[in-house]
Amino acid sequence: MLDFDYQAETRILFGKDKIKGIAGEIKKYSARVLLVYGKGSIKTNGIHQELVSILNENKISFNELSGIEPNPKISSVRQGIALCRVHELDFILAVGGGSVIDCAKAIACGVYSEKDPWDFFIKKSEIIKALPIGVILTLSATGSESNGFSVISNKDTEEKLGIGHDILKPKFSILDPSYTFTVSSKQSAYGVVDIYSHLLEQYFSPEKGTFLQDRLAESLMKTCIHYGAKVLTKPNNYEFRAQLMWASSLSLNGLLSCGKTGDWSTHFIEHAVSAVYDIAHGLGLAIITPYWMEYVLGAKDSGKFADYGRNVFSLQGQDDAAIGRDAIEQTKAFFKSLGLPSRLKDVGVEEGSLGQMAKKATKFGSIGSYSKLDTNDVYEILKTAY
Ligand code: NZQ
Ligand code: ZN
Repeated sequence: MLDFDYQAETRILFGKDKIKGIAGEIKKYSARVLLVYGKGSIKTNGIHQELVSILNENKISFNELSGIEPNPKISSVRQGIALCRVHELDFILAVGGGSVIDCAKAIACGVYSEKDPWDFFIKKSEIIKALPIGVILTLSATGSESNGFSVISNKDTEEKLGIGHDILKPKFSILDPSYTFTVSSKQSAYGVVDIYSHLLEQYFSPEKGTFLQDRLAESLMKTCIHYGAKVLTKPNNYEFRAQLMWASSLSLNGLLSCGKTGDWSTHFIEHAVSAVYDIAHGLGLAIITPYWMEYVLGAKDSGKFADYGRNVFSLQGQDDAAIGRDAIEQTKAFFKSLGLPSRLKDVGVEEGSLGQMAKKATKFGSIGSYSKLDTNDVYEILKTAY
């Protein structure tokens, strides 16, 4: 096991009506809030109204930045920074899924920088300070509610890039599973795949001696498989939503990557695809993941894939390679059970752009730790996924 430093910064307030305690949480840090949210779901399902009443009752003043798009854009970040500066806001409250939370994080550090916020993403500027952030999560998927990552898209350059820093970890996150009842079936499926992919990305790493981390990841994978399809048929089932919500946070809050690296190739590749085609992150992952697996299994010894097959899908047999191949088929079947497509061409991607996306995915050099991939490798994976 590798050495590590770990601090779970975010206070998690999990359960129904936990929003009632939000004023006390915010007041620990501020009295002037930038409220960030998406294109309207929180108004339709009543969360906005409930929150605004609480803020007003507690004399917490706020300005709003709404309309944050899925795959949030750097232009929204710039808007948020300007609002914070003009109104001297000192706290950011993100109400939504990963896109809203990621936008809030980029605003939080952008406020303190004289440079354009995109410079953080192209490694021309360093994060040194950030406003505190709070979250009300409305969609289980990214884990952004309990980590320090932010992924932002730039329409001008057709890039989607990430930053990460401990000071971007939310101070608190309200996780009320009932807030996710209104998430559509498709979006719920994308969320399940994103959680699952985060587990795979950390599971497949080159280090030995990660028994504990791997067993933790496997139990979270089983949770996704157990509840993934169920939640599509019973979207208002509190227990199903609760299991997935907690899985979302546990899967990418840093715990599982303690003592090991992670691979993250599939994420780099997917970000390149959604940077150009603006498809949902989980949808891109559902398509690319099995083809990444097939490409990598061919090049590696199959022990880890066999562990995956035996421990997650209860596959039996002596032949590791056969178990590994079967595990990939089981993964495909799981994504199919969520109603997701399996080809890039089915989601509007054009064959002629695969080379461009392979270059974008490897903009900063080779990707992956379990299996290092260069631009040609990524192109081959995209070609088979097409
Ligand atoms: O905009 P509104 O109207 O709110 O609708 C959203 C949006 O259309 C809707 N939604 C959210 N909560 C809802 C709801 N609809 C009904 N009821 C609710 N309760 O869902 C749609 C998608 O929202 P989005 O925030 O884009 O989804 P997600 O949470 O999957 O976030 C995806 C973004 O996060 C990035 C992805 O790349 C993508 O940009 N990621 C962030 C990570 C991180 N910060 O750690 C890691 C991930 O790997 C990922 O890269
Ligand atoms: Zn992801």
